[in-house]
Amino acid sequence: MSSHFPSTRVYMDANATTPLLPEVFEAMRPYWMEHFGNASSIHMHGQRARTAVDRARETLAEFFNCHDAEVVFNSGGTEGDNTALFGLLHPGDHCITTSIEHSAILEAARRLAQHSIETTFVAPQPSGLIDPADILRAIRPQTRLISVMLANNETGVLQPIEEIGKIAADTGIFFHIDAVQGAGKVKLDVRRFGCHLLSISAHKMHGPKGTGAMFVRRGTPVESLLVGGSHERRRRAGTENVAGIVGLAKAAELAMHSLGDGTIDRLAALRDRLETEILRIPGTGLNGADAHGEPVARAANTTNIWFDHLEGEALVIALDLKGVAVSGGSACHSGATEPSHVLMAMGLDKNRARASLRFSLLKTATDADVDHVLRVLPEAVEHLRALSPVAAGTLG
Ligand SMILES: Cc1ncc(COP(=O)(O)O)c(C=O)c1O
Repeated sequence: MSSHFPSTRVYMDANATTPLLPEVFEAMRPYWMEHFGNASSIHMHGQRARTAVDRARETLAEFFNCHDAEVVFNSGGTEGDNTALFGLLHPGDHCITTSIEHSAILEAARRLAQHSIETTFVAPQPSGLIDPADILRAIRPQTRLISVMLANNETGVLQPIEEIGKIAADTGIFFHIDAVQGAGKVKLDVRRFGCHLLSISAHKMHGPKGTGAMFVRRGTPVESLLVGGSHERRRRAGTENVAGIVGLAKAAELAMHSLGDGTIDRLAALRDRLETEILRIPGTGLNGADAHGEPVARAANTTNIWFDHLEGEALVIALDLKGVAVSGGSACHSGATEPSHVLMAMGLDKNRARASLRFSLLKTATDADVDHVLRVLPEAVEHLRALSPVAAGTLG
């Protein structure tokens, strides 16, 4: 077969999205055709759909460690993030978030600025970690909400959520966690985290796209973004996406198994092997390391590495031609020429941020996948460096 059509394909872009697991697909299948009912209808079709949604709610409550009534189904991470900010903040309020959040938080905060709601964007340390002391320092009398992500989508760095939860509790401020990239990779526990709101998205954990859920602690005065029917106890109007909800619940159930059966530890070992070998290539370094070069706590599947003297986009394309799918910066920003806001906030210069790649492994990744990447990557790097105007010093 020609080298233009590699026979091996390795997908290492799980933080962009994941495929359905077969069990998820099978669980969803009946709800598109045989069991198509509207969960609000009182006849048998409706009741079957209602039962499925109720069961899914129980699974999500277990996944979050909360009560069934504290689970709200929605369309995914963007909606959950937007709901936290738009639903809780009023003119005159102050919000604290970080400069490394997903655009679903950053753009919501920017829009709120037009409505007299100011936001402080706390910067990370060079390791990518947010210092809880910086959150504490940012608090003002008007601060109503703190929103911090659990795992960063680009670096995988896990934030000190519990410490921030304690600060929120001590100061009486609402706390939202964007757990989209943490769900399925670390155990969620909203009681331990001390949050009022937490958002997840099915498609990052082998569930369907366009489906998600939110934990809303009982009594949290968050207003619905969508109004209409009285679905989801009036917290999110719109006919329930029954098949999507069933798929999300199946994905959550499988994720809970994976967290307990060694799958995530195996994944971390695979990621570590990949990372250690890549870092043997000269002119490379890890994004998400402390001052001694040691990786900080990260989601098990993610590594983010800079390659000096080349363009990250060119390496993404070169790897794609060799059958390897990875991402430079956040996939949500692909096509944009700006370097990653996360890496820039961590203090990388523009060239190094542009020359960084994210490898994010599926939990189904194998040793053979890692072997394939390690076979093709060094050659691709060498080839690009030989061609690169960056290498020749002609790019500022
Ligand atoms: C950290 C984070 N938050 C939110 C989102 C948005 O989630 P969704 O794609 O379900 O809208 C993403 C997706 O990339 C993400 O990585």
